[in-house]
Amino acid sequence: MMKFEFYNPTRLIFGAGSLEQLGKVVSQYGKKALLVTGGGSVKKSGAFDRAVGSLKAASVSVVEFSGVEPNPRLSTVMRATELAKKEECDVVIGMGGGSVMDASKVIAATVFYKGHPRDMLMRAGKVQRLPEKALPIITVPTLAATGSEMNCGAVITIDDEEEKLKTFIKTEVLYPKVAVVDPELTITVPKIQTAYGVCDIITHVTEGYFNGIDGTPIQDRFAEGVIITVMEWGPKAVSDGSNIEARIQVQWASIVALNGWVQVGTNYSAPVHMIEHTLSALYDVPHGAGLAVVNPAWMRFAARFRPERFAQFAQRIFGISAMGKDDLSLAMEGIDRFEEFLRSIGCPTRLSELGIGEITEEMLSYWADKTLEVICDEEGKLPGRPPLRKEEIVE
Ligand code: NZQ
Ligand code: ZN
Repeated sequence: MMKFEFYNPTRLIFGAGSLEQLGKVVSQYGKKALLVTGGGSVKKSGAFDRAVGSLKAASVSVVEFSGVEPNPRLSTVMRATELAKKEECDVVIGMGGGSVMDASKVIAATVFYKGHPRDMLMRAGKVQRLPEKALPIITVPTLAATGSEMNCGAVITIDDEEEKLKTFIKTEVLYPKVAVVDPELTITVPKIQTAYGVCDIITHVTEGYFNGIDGTPIQDRFAEGVIITVMEWGPKAVSDGSNIEARIQVQWASIVALNGWVQVGTNYSAPVHMIEHTLSALYDVPHGAGLAVVNPAWMRFAARFRPERFAQFAQRIFGISAMGKDDLSLAMEGIDRFEEFLRSIGCPTRLSELGIGEITEEMLSYWADKTLEVICDEEGKLPGRPPLRKEEIVE
């Protein structure tokens, strides 16, 4: 276990019907809110009108910015920031999936940021200058997946003429003041998007589980708890979207998986995410779908270096018997079962299923370069266990 400091100041209001509290919550932070939404799902479901009603009842005026796309672009963030400045908004509400919440966080910081906001994002393992200030951020997730509602990270795609890169920022000023989490809002999430969310949640904890150090028994059990719970309740949410109990369990799991608690002390890194971000940047693949392809493939590669860890996963998650097997074969059996689980809920597990078309050696090499353009260690490797050289990412 490593030394660590843990801080997460986001107030969490969780439970079916919580949306009604939005106005009261926001009024504690501002009088004029920039209400950020995506491509229209919240309007279709009626959640938008309910949110506006609650805000108006609490005397909070609303400036709407809609149209944040999945895998949100920096240019969109910049347009929204202009609006927030022009309208002198004093609080930002992100109501939607991870894309909307992430965009909202970066909008809130860009309002005060001197210079181009690309400089606050990770490039080649470095950030030029982190923001020191942000407008108060309130998150209202409508999809259980990223955990963005209660963490200080945001993933943004730089879409300048000269640079195209899906990268991220993680810094304290981006912690939402409050996450208003109403799992009823996730009832309208389509089956396949629900399945992608399930895969994302599991991958958030497997990254720590497999890339972290040894000797973290409590963190291991937290991660296993999240995986087992999501494997039990996720398929129920996929097969019957209106099963509110399933929606509640999956939503809570998404928060627990990435609010920092599961990863503390493990020296967490996220190579599967970094590789996937390249796919979603270049081909606009949904994040969870890309992870379903990359994670089992990465696991098969990494298991060779740490078979005992993967054998533990096989035994504890799937109850696979170790009788007569060495760690590596046990590990591979566990990974096969994990992949079968992903397929059973409808996730793709092969690159060919992502609609990318024919994949060439040049493309693989370019993807690896792009991944390392976001983050690499001093030796030019992708951090993880083991750290990956370009050739290994390609493999
Ligand atoms: O845009 P709208 O119309 O809202 O539709 C969205 C979008 O098409 C739809 N949706 C959301 N809530 C819905 C709904 N449809 C019906 N009913 C609802 N209640 O779902 C689609 C996908 O939305 P998106 O926000 O893109 O999905 P997700 O929550 O999976 O977020 C993915 C983004 O988050 C980043 C990913 O890289 C990706 O850009 N991540 C952010 C993280 C963080 N901040 O900590 C960590 C994650 O690992 C991840 O990288
Ligand atoms: Zn993720």
